[in-house]
Amino acid sequence: MTDDPLILGIETSCDETAAAITRGPTRVLSNVIATQHELHRRYAGVVPEIASRAHLQRIVPVIREALGDAGLGFRDLDGVAVCHRPGLIGSLLVGTSAAKALAWSLSTPLLGVDHIAAHLHAGLLEADPVVYPALGLVVSGGHTSLLLAQGPLQIQLLGKTIDDAVGEAFDKAATILGLGYPGGPALERAARSGDGEAHRFPVAMLEADSLDFSFSGLKTALLYAACGRPRSGDDRRRYTRPATHLTEQQRNDLAAAFQRAAIAAIQRKLSRALERHSVKTILAGGGVTANQALRSTLNDLAEARDLDLRLPKMEYCVDNAAMIAGLGACKLAAGEFDHWSLSAATASEVVSGRVVV
Ligand code: KG4
Ligand code: ZN
Repeated sequence: MTDDPLILGIETSCDETAAAITRGPTRVLSNVIATQHELHRRYAGVVPEIASRAHLQRIVPVIREALGDAGLGFRDLDGVAVCHRPGLIGSLLVGTSAAKALAWSLSTPLLGVDHIAAHLHAGLLEADPVVYPALGLVVSGGHTSLLLAQGPLQIQLLGKTIDDAVGEAFDKAATILGLGYPGGPALERAARSGDGEAHRFPVAMLEADSLDFSFSGLKTALLYAACGRPRSGDDRRRYTRPATHLTEQQRNDLAAAFQRAAIAAIQRKLSRALERHSVKTILAGGGVTANQALRSTLNDLAEARDLDLRLPKMEYCVDNAAMIAGLGACKLAAGEFDHWSLSAATASEVVSGRVVV
């Protein structure tokens, strides 16, 4: 085994079929992502059965492409890392089965990786080493979590959403406003030409000591602002169809006000967590960290407190396998191998205490 092992990472937890090679925890040699957006667009959301079938069709060519881009063959690998939780069960099974078959046939270690912990690792890719402890923020389509990390493998959950994930709320807001799919980037584009002060949307803080999040009230507030408050006798379809009666400026204003409130919720919860936990670094990850308004809010927050902020490069914000391979290398270094009994799971085990990633 070399000091800097070559790790193949595999990611299939949702709607991206991804494979990547890293040398050690942070050097990315290749990063291939086959997105399924075109398959799910007409449903305005990920359809699990369609996702797992597409993973099955794409997984082998995507792995071959990742090896080819890195100029490597299967026999060069020192380990196979795979995201095995949390996610859509059928999708996860495709990745874990492929990883097990490969690792077994190559007699190389199998490394099961938690998706949430991997999103935190994304900010370490192609970057300087991080100083711990770090406050972690994962904001994606499936997760909104605040975490305390003592190292890449020692992560404790501080708070999470009690309803919608923030990325999911962006996607639903974009659907209400008829902005297209995937919604996050479309809503951000519309928000750029809107006035965030045009509407006052709620920023849920929950109980005074809570580090949890809630975005369902914000989503409903947007729906009512766009379509009017429901009255008895209303045609319900008014609330299930995109609000096409709005002018472009009205849509942009609603998008900007929604984005402003969503980011305010994240910023306030981060500030609350920073009052309680003394950290050196803020580590953020997940698809919503691609949002420029959120990135600049996080920058201001870190600067005001003299903290090192780690945001992933744009290509590592959304689901990717480089973050899986990188964290897999950390597991390999720690001697944490998995057995052939490694199973896919819909829930994360990032719980209060040490997370086994
Ligand atoms: O991390 P990710 O690829 O998948 C999950 O683990 O869920 O995140 C995807 C989510 C989607 O909800 C997408 O709309 C959101 O990230 N997203 C954004 C932006 N780009 C992606 N949300 C807001 N602004 C963006 N620019
Ligand atoms: Zn993700």
